[in-house]
Amino acid sequence: MPTWSNFNFQNSASPLMEQIIFFHDHTLIILIMITILVGYLMFILFFNKFINRFLLEGQMIELIWTIIPAITLIFIALPSLRLLYLLDELNNPLITLKSIGHQWYWSYEYSDFNNIEFDSYMIQYNKNIPENFRLLDVDNRIILPMNNQIRIMVTATDVIHSWTIPSLGVKVDANPGRLNQTSFFINRPGIFFGQCSEICGANHSFMPIVIESISIKNFINWINNYS
Ligand code: CUA
Repeated sequence: MPTWSNFNFQNSASPLMEQIIFFHDHTLIILIMITILVGYLMFILFFNKFINRFLLEGQMIELIWTIIPAITLIFIALPSLRLLYLLDELNNPLITLKSIGHQWYWSYEYSDFNNIEFDSYMIQYNKNIPENFRLLDVDNRIILPMNNQIRIMVTATDVIHSWTIPSLGVKVDANPGRLNQTSFFINRPGIFFGQCSEICGANHSFMPIVIESISIKNFINWINNYS
């Protein structure tokens, strides 16, 4: 979950988020190498006395400084495309969760099971409850089984919202009159937090998302006992 002064990604809880982090690190290393090289060249340029009054063209150096960046871009573009298509893949989901954005709360529907549906509002921070997270906790959490492919369908009723969970690598816009779809796979038990990430009005910051990832056995138990 997000904690103070965390400059990095949150730990991944899904294979796709792991891939996103790998790609981020890969691209960042390339970026650092370019920055160091260009910075060094600019620094050196200021402190030399080279003069060439008759310089008109340099075919070879122009060829080099065109082809090398082109190759560098390919090394970023190909993994990026791979990731893009992996993120769009549905992989036969076991269950479907529908989440609907409202000003300013989320509501959820488990349409596979006798239409379980509930609203999920942020709750006030209470320091007397140990497992209570300020500005992040909700009254009704999403319960999902771990180690299963889950389809999520996202829509909204009033304005655009965005259903975003960083540790799962999920970020889908919730548009009124549209139904967006994505899927994810949670690979461990735990509580995962998200927030709306489309500026949707006065209480945009106060419509968090909480997923409780539990074993499939406990999930079936929860479904059976849902009233
Ligand atoms: Cu809903 Cu921002």
